[in-house]
Amino acid sequence: MRLLITAGPTREPIDPVRFLSNRSSGRMGYALAEAAHAAGQEVLLISGPVTIPAPSGIQIIHVKTAREMFDAVRTHLPGCAAAIFSAAVADYRPAQVVAQKIKKTAETLTLQLERTEDILGSVRSQFAFTGFLVGFAAETENLIAHAQDKLLRKGCDLIIANDVSQSGIGFDSLENEVTLCLPGGQTMPLPRQSKTSLARELIQFISSRASSIQHPVPSPQ
Ligand code: CTP
Repeated sequence: MRLLITAGPTREPIDPVRFLSNRSSGRMGYALAEAAHAAGQEVLLISGPVTIPAPSGIQIIHVKTAREMFDAVRTHLPGCAAAIFSAAVADYRPAQVVAQKIKKTAETLTLQLERTEDILGSVRSQFAFTGFLVGFAAETENLIAHAQDKLLRKGCDLIIANDVSQSGIGFDSLENEVTLCLPGGQTMPLPRQSKTSLARELIQFISSRASSIQHPVPSPQ
């Protein structure tokens, strides 16, 4: 099975020396890529800037911005049987990138932001992907309700939901505790564990489901 995985944060430039980003370490996505590779799958990892080492034996494409990640996904998704979107993509970027370093002249500075491409949200509607689609939902409240809503809106087969208000799990942590949200409102809580062991469990689950699900090609909009 050919599997595409996005991982890590994106960086949205403000000027030549500054950017907007987030605390994602990329560990969950990298652990998923390693677990899938170890299970004998062909993995393509599309990664934002991270400091952890690249997993060996896995094809990796490095990107910086949401736009670059969007383009890489669009190019490489055809032919994949499943796709897992674990990247923490910036939802907004500076509307203008200033060509020279911004000097501190005024007392306050306002940045105007614009929406970035919704990569996961484009997979069914724009890229007509028919494989098994997995998204993550990092929430601070109403975890399951938000995750189920995301599952439906983005046409996912599985949302891996985690409560990022809890310390020691999720963003920039070694461990994670997630609930699997499936179509039809079914949920499966998984115990707190290292991202490495969670990745193995998730890859096993996704592989077994992905081989039995193939979506019809959507009609053009
Ligand atoms: N994602 C993406 N492209 C974006 C933003 C998010 O592919 N521009 C993916 C993430 O990799 C993750 C999921 O979407 O799998 C997270 O969705 P999120 O942005 O949290 O969901 P939204 O439905 O946009 O809701 P909100 O930001 O309001 O929580």
